[in-house]
Amino acid sequence: MAVSSKKPCYVTTPIYYSSGKVHIGNSYTTIACDVFARFNRLMGHDVFFLTGMDEHGQKIEEAAQKAGLTPEVFVEGIAEETKKLWHNLRISNDDFIRTSELRHTKVVQKMFEEMLKNDDIYLGTYSGNYCVSCETYFTKTQLGEDQTCPDCGKQTKIISEEGYFLRLTKYQQKLIDFIEQNPDFIQPEQRKNEVLSFIKSGLEDLCVSRTSFKWGIPVLSNPKHVVYVWIDALSNYLSVLGYGSENESNYQKYWVNSDMVFHVVGKDILRFHAVYWPIMLMALGVPVKFKLIAHGWILIKSGRMSKSRGNAVYPMDLVNRYGLDPVRYYLAKELAHGNDGLFSYERFVERYNNDLANDLGNLLSRTISMIQKYRNGIIPSYQGFVTPYDQGIKELTKTVISEYIENFARFSLPAGIAKVWTLIDRANKYIDETEPWKLAKDESNKAVLDSVLYHLAEILRISGVLVSPILVEAAPKIQAALGIKEPMPQLESLEFGYTFTGLVESLSEPLFKRVKLEEELAYFNEDNQENETTPLKEQAIVTEEPKEEHKPIVTIDDFAKLDLRVGEIIDSKKHPNATKLLVSQVKIGEEVRQIVSGIAEYYQPEEIIGKKVLVVVNLKPVKIRGEMSNGMLLCAEEGDKLELLESKMPSGSSIK
Ligand code: MSP
Repeated sequence: MAVSSKKPCYVTTPIYYSSGKVHIGNSYTTIACDVFARFNRLMGHDVFFLTGMDEHGQKIEEAAQKAGLTPEVFVEGIAEETKKLWHNLRISNDDFIRTSELRHTKVVQKMFEEMLKNDDIYLGTYSGNYCVSCETYFTKTQLGEDQTCPDCGKQTKIISEEGYFLRLTKYQQKLIDFIEQNPDFIQPEQRKNEVLSFIKSGLEDLCVSRTSFKWGIPVLSNPKHVVYVWIDALSNYLSVLGYGSENESNYQKYWVNSDMVFHVVGKDILRFHAVYWPIMLMALGVPVKFKLIAHGWILIKSGRMSKSRGNAVYPMDLVNRYGLDPVRYYLAKELAHGNDGLFSYERFVERYNNDLANDLGNLLSRTISMIQKYRNGIIPSYQGFVTPYDQGIKELTKTVISEYIENFARFSLPAGIAKVWTLIDRANKYIDETEPWKLAKDESNKAVLDSVLYHLAEILRISGVLVSPILVEAAPKIQAALGIKEPMPQLESLEFGYTFTGLVESLSEPLFKRVKLEEELAYFNEDNQENETTPLKEQAIVTEEPKEEHKPIVTIDDFAKLDLRVGEIIDSKKHPNATKLLVSQVKIGEEVRQIVSGIAEYYQPEEIIGKKVLVVVNLKPVKIRGEMSNGMLLCAEEGDKLELLESKMPSGSSIK
């Protein structure tokens, strides 16, 4: 197991725009960072965890106007609401920065003047396509069709204004060298390559001030300009640490002298963090200490969630029904390293029932009740390898702890969580293998039963510690149920072989109560109407029709009826009722569809996650053995070989 020493560790979320209520997508970053921060504390590190609000800019000024409020009052309301949400989600942040605070504005003004003085910022004129929503200018090559914004798809406007520019061009090569010399600067790897090719395609100096709106930080030496929001926003990571102020001790500790500085960002804002931010730091002579962890998006079936589309899911609606831990668990488990993930009530309930209520909750209640029934609540002491399974369990525990640490340390939360569940699954299987209720019938099995009960309690204790960064309410309940009074141990001292001294205590209610999917879907009023059923053979992939040498000739018009697209498989699992079928979630542009395909004999579900494949998207939706299928994955087939057809083009690209 990795032994750690107490190191200063700085973890940041992006700061959220104060334009409206925070939804489950934004909450993902905060919850995932909270899990990461708590994990690092459990490793013994000295963690400073920061989140906050990005309060300036035209969009917020307009939103305030619409609400009939001054921007100050408007952002105050949003900040209070967001703080309350983080409190309810038990986010353990050490500070909460708001960019309208004086401590921040002073630092931004100072940084700006410093860069101006050193000629890293200069005054010029800017004219370009500007997206008001994203508060970004785009070059001609970046624009979508009809001059639309490549990020949000809205129409851009041509704007000309006097502006200050940051010399990105001057630092282009230095940044390329830096990224190439620091291979773990941007994670995951594939994102690093995207950033590098963006930089290599040629940077242009960046306009870093605006005169077209007022709600921002004025440039000290020329106050008709306000500082462009990205410069303002990115600086929060330093202003909070007191950089440039009278007391720079936190800046020295958590930045200059730390090798654990992590900015966690969504893929949409990676470029700002990977290009503008290091260049600003280089210009200011501040060391580029941070690592960037880029994550994907939580999507819903109809695509990307947005407040304006009114399709957003809000975390407190789920917390109010299921409690906090299931929401934290789902989000921490959902986004595999850097990939997009899906939120659906169906999946949420499935995870809740299977992982939490069945696997973990039942294991705890069964173990506690057996210890009460067979040993009057006293957990037997450890006797070494008694059953044929005990040695394997001890070894597994050791591997799980070290692999969990390895994965969590690089922000691979789903993989780390999956490791813990291998241990929980092992314990459940151990009950089936040893059948303690049979052992209890014969006194001559006493030593074996003691060993079984000890192992179950010990697995639960260890799992309880490992899940404590995620399941903040359940973990202490597990410890209490096992009669443990002392605080959670740190990970470096967590190992198999604890001596239990207290009496076990039953929980007043199950850790997680099972729920019924239909009732939950009805509660959330999700469209659960089944589409018309179509026979299996209409799905070309599972067809068993005799093959013809060639199919009849079709015209180009026939072919044009097919809508073929590139889709990215973001999740896949075995069909619950058919061994040959996989049920996959496929992201096509911004939409996520479920597609059932007859490929289970050729691919394991995990193998195809992340593949970009060709999809027929306008096939009539059908239900296949109880699972909806909306589209078809294209494959090449020859004899007993089958291969999914793949493409490197972005998801949503159409195939001609
Ligand atoms: N204010 C900027 C960030 C400045 S950081 C110096 C911003 N704010 S935001 O509110 O629009 O987004 C904040 C974060 O939420 C981003 O990392 C973004 O990727 C993330 N998410 C927004 N929707 C999301 C999902 N549906 N899923 C996961 N993350 C999502 O950008």
